Amino acid sequence: MTIRDTPKHIAIVMDGNGRWAEKRGLNRVNGHKKGVDAARRMVKVCIKKGIETLSLFAFSTENWRRPSSEVQFLMTLLVTSINSERASLLENGVRVSVIGDREPFSLDLKKAIGNIENTTRECDRMHLVLAVNYGGKWEIAQVAKSIAEQVVDGSLLKEEINEGLFDELMKLPGDSSPDLFIRAGGEHRLSNYYLWQMAYTELYFVDCLWPDFHENHLTDAITSYSNRQRRFGGLLGDDGDPC
Ligand code: IPE
Ligand code: IPE
Ligand code: MG
Repeated sequence: MTIRDTPKHIAIVMDGNGRWAEKRGLNRVNGHKKGVDAARRMVKVCIKKGIETLSLFAFSTENWRRPSSEVQFLMTLLVTSINSERASLLENGVRVSVIGDREPFSLDLKKAIGNIENTTRECDRMHLVLAVNYGGKWEIAQVAKSIAEQVVDGSLLKEEINEGLFDELMKLPGDSSPDLFIRAGGEHRLSNYYLWQMAYTELYFVDCLWPDFHENHLTDAITSYSNRQRRFGGLLGDDGDPC
């Protein structure tokens, strides 16, 4: 049974940082700092487990609604974390891509992103896709806009618009859709993460707050995934694979 052995692409919503800190009588930002440690830990574990693509949701298009002090802290934490992890990610063969709308970012953050993408572009052990100021709805609207522009300038026919074209424009080159979605922090929702790409993704929710997320939680999620039947709307054949 090849289809449901191990996930190739895992997407994680790293939620629960604020509550982790509040539970300890600390400012929420302390939870975000610990969240970076958990992210670093998961990158290592995913490399070890042979995961091809790890997607991490770091900041959503809706997270600007938070108090500006928290938003500012998160933006600065992104700059320092991206810069300080660059050498180790390169050494570990991790190619980093950042998705989301960079337009409102500071010059420092734009530079940090450009640097890490550039430095790691030849790495091929694992692909880390960081979603920053990303929203599934934003991405779908971006793709629709680019399709409209191509139709208007005559490079695309209306008849050529189909799901495959959206697939191509939506995903990063070389990546499959997430096989497994994991959300830490106890909430059971997507919060505007990959909406198009997760049409057939297996969903896994865990109460553990993100700073407490360890290898055993990932192993449990992968075990749950491996025990599921992915049918993609079809039926399973005698060999257990979709037919
Ligand atoms: C996730 O943790 C990190 C971001 C959204 C940036 P939260 O900050 O949402 O933590 P909770 O959900 O409030 O505990
Ligand atoms: C989702 O968490 C976004 C990230 C982890 C980056 P939120 O804490 O923003 O989601 P909601 O508000 O609980 O839906
Ligand atoms: Mg949250």
